[in-house]
Amino acid sequence: MVRRSVDLRGAHAIVTGGSSGIGLETARQLAGRGATVSLIARGESRLEAAADDLRHGGATVQTRAVDVSEADALRSAIGELADAAGPCEVLVACAGVARPGRFTELSDEVFREMMEIDYFGTLTAMRAVVPGMIARGRGSVVAVSSAVALIGLFGYSAYTPAKYAVRGLMESLRAELKPHGVHAAIVYPLDTDTPQYVEEQQYKPAELQALNGGFRLLSPQEVAKAILTGIDRRRFAICPSPAANAMRVFAGLAGPVLNFSWDRAIAKVHSANTPPQKDRYLP
Ligand SMILES: NC(=O)c1ccc[n+]([C@@H]2O[C@H](COP(=O)([O-])OP(=O)(O)OC[C@H]3O[C@@H](n4cnc5c(N)ncnc54)[C@H](OP(=O)(O)O)[C@@H]3O)[C@@H](O)[C@H]2O)c1
Repeated sequence: MVRRSVDLRGAHAIVTGGSSGIGLETARQLAGRGATVSLIARGESRLEAAADDLRHGGATVQTRAVDVSEADALRSAIGELADAAGPCEVLVACAGVARPGRFTELSDEVFREMMEIDYFGTLTAMRAVVPGMIARGRGSVVAVSSAVALIGLFGYSAYTPAKYAVRGLMESLRAELKPHGVHAAIVYPLDTDTPQYVEEQQYKPAELQALNGGFRLLSPQEVAKAILTGIDRRRFAICPSPAANAMRVFAGLAGPVLNFSWDRAIAKVHSANTPPQKDRYLP
């Protein structure tokens, strides 16, 4: 059976976090399908370098340097981009930061920052484009969450809730947008070889490092390809690897098994470093 692809020629696609990693590769593949792409990120020089890179490949690109956690600025930027390149037909909300660390060692600011950028940054972008998509009766909104939104993981107590919040948002949006002909999707990548992945290694507690061995590191191109396929097939849950898909399908069932094996790995790291702890509350 020949599968049909969405015709993206001339469509305006906005990618937050489009200057690097998964966002940049997604923008490249959208542009390769003929979309006009708009990239949003904070750092101007990386943004311009990304845009030049895409333009060399023949893409039509515009950029805005904005922090997605600044709602008014993000709304204005999306409005200006739409004025220049037409209404947004595809939004990929990919801007995000991940800061691992032990719960007791992370600062309050980190918990807030994850929510402000990963969740509210996604929410604001969605709210800026969804009304127009409903009015036109078409479009795709895609939020890049994480496999940590399928099962919580040691060392991600700040990042995981923000990505779960994105999941809750997208599950609600899926149901609300479907009757209007608008496609909503969520992406659940496992570890992917990007600058963020490299940067977060320095903060990973030893226990988290011990859990990471089992899964193959994905490339941002693979994740981007899964996103494009998800848009073509109007999939809700986009799992860029079979392991993420298995976690999604079996999360409820496999959770206790995964937790059992992860708890053992964590206990091994602990027993090497700390005296055993007693299972009681009284001193
Ligand atoms: N890499 C992984 O292993 C992995 C796994 C699962 C999920 N994810 C998710 O995938 C998404 C992309 O991550 P990546 O790994 O591709 O990281 P990346 O290469 O570091 O790219 C992150 C992008 O987001 C932008 N960004 C970050 N904070 C921003 C803010 N406040 N406002 C606007 N733009 C902002 C960055 O540019 P500026 O810093 O210049 O703003 C950059 O363009 C994130 O949501 C991440 O949580 C990644």
